Amino acid sequence: MLYDDNPTLVGIAKEIDESKQGEVFFNAQPAESADTAAGLFYIESYGCQMNFSDSEIVGSILAESGYKPTRDLELADLILINTCSIREKAEETVRKRLRLFDKIKKQRPGTLVGVLGCMAERLKTKFLEEEKLVDLVVGPDAYRDLPKLVAGAEDGDKGINVFLSREETYADINPLRLDSNGVAAFISIMRGCDNMCSFCVVPFTRGRERSRDAFSIVAEAQELYERGYREVTLLGQNVDSYKWENPENGEIVNFAHLLERVALVHPDLRVRFSTSHPKDITDEVLHTIARHENICNYIHLPVQSGNSRILELMNRTYDREWYMDRVEAIYRIIPDCAISSDIITGFCSETEEEHQDTLSMIEWANYSMSYMFFYSERPGTLAARKFPDDISMDVKKRRLNEIIRLQNHVSLKHNKADIGKTFKVLIEGDSKKSDQEFKGRNSQNKMVVFPKAEGYRPGDYVFVKVKEASSATLIGEITPQ
Ligand code: SAH
Ligand code: SF4
Ligand code: F3S
Repeated sequence: MLYDDNPTLVGIAKEIDESKQGEVFFNAQPAESADTAAGLFYIESYGCQMNFSDSEIVGSILAESGYKPTRDLELADLILINTCSIREKAEETVRKRLRLFDKIKKQRPGTLVGVLGCMAERLKTKFLEEEKLVDLVVGPDAYRDLPKLVAGAEDGDKGINVFLSREETYADINPLRLDSNGVAAFISIMRGCDNMCSFCVVPFTRGRERSRDAFSIVAEAQELYERGYREVTLLGQNVDSYKWENPENGEIVNFAHLLERVALVHPDLRVRFSTSHPKDITDEVLHTIARHENICNYIHLPVQSGNSRILELMNRTYDREWYMDRVEAIYRIIPDCAISSDIITGFCSETEEEHQDTLSMIEWANYSMSYMFFYSERPGTLAARKFPDDISMDVKKRRLNEIIRLQNHVSLKHNKADIGKTFKVLIEGDSKKSDQEFKGRNSQNKMVVFPKAEGYRPGDYVFVKVKEASSATLIGEITPQ
């Protein structure tokens, strides 16, 4: 997944994701004037891909009740911020934005500000009582209630719904594709998380795990393909524990079955997924990936730590050996698979030797990239209650820098090994630097940049031969096949 709160600390991910910090999500079509609609809404998203995907559900719910999206904060009648609680820094960023929105509210009385997502869930009424900065507080399972809450707020009633559901999957909602490149889209396949990693706030902000109706997922993929999309990413906090029972006949659909069904929508529709949990990823899933050319050879498999004692304190429920066995299975069954990771440094009581185990894991697993963070204690989590946050900030940062430096080196080596190879690339659009170049990704999820050629456009597949590589990008040329 992409994490947008802390881009200065995510190593090579920085180059890829920096532009996404505080990214404003808007619809490509121009906003209509407010008098043709209930009003104009503006939505900004932070955190993981699930949050970005949720903003598209929110967009759809609001559009149904007459609201139109705008990319212009100054024009909005309703300003929404979809928030993340994963680390302290993520929450600070949101608070800063709220202070800015408050100024706008003062200049334009009547403008409503709403907090959505994980911070809304974590802080609940605090936003309305103490901070008085916002009119609406809506948790991740309560978005269907938004139109009613907005209407109430227009009449001066502060609105809150932070009810966490055991059933809500928004299966029937067709997300409004915000800021879409028209090529790649996210599909949420499940919500919540039933794991209790001791550092993590997600089970508290997102509630119990539930899987979405498999037919609605396949139908969404089919519809996206028909609209010209060529890539879908199936999203969940732990996709490998996807499990849906067909109420008609009791048939159980697991993640491997689901992947296969989505892959069969069309051979030209690429399928990605995130996030895999090392304890749950099965050989059945790996064989399914190997069997279908259009299921990408890329697995995000967060290790968090390379040391078994720390993994136990983290309550990840696997140890170093188990993780290594899974990595070996991936490389055995899908030989050209790229693997990426999430890493936390400076978790409670982590010693220098234990930190070395994480460094050695980066080299051994040969990650193509990683998202790297220092531990940030989150109120209410198991770790906050049980273990002192006893690694000093200096040590956390030093260890993080060592990890980033090593990962950059490993990523560069990984990418340099691709020089001379030819990859099938799905064109996503113009490269960041030049409108004379296209960018797209290969199956391994590496960004590939190459000069444009006559007759190609976003959504087309091309074969690109790699000539050069940095730690974040492959540079090449289109080559005939
Ligand atoms: N469900 C995914 C992770 C979701 S959270 C999984 O299990 O892999 C995304 C990442 O944020 C985590 O993988 C972890 O590396 C990081 N993270 C979560 N809580 C954190 C905390 N308290 N401090 C620092 N990083 C954290
Ligand atoms: Fe958090 Fe663990 Fe669930 Fe991932 S699997 S969301 S890290 S509790
Ligand atoms: Fe953040 Fe919530 Fe995602 S805490 S990482 S937005 S599930």
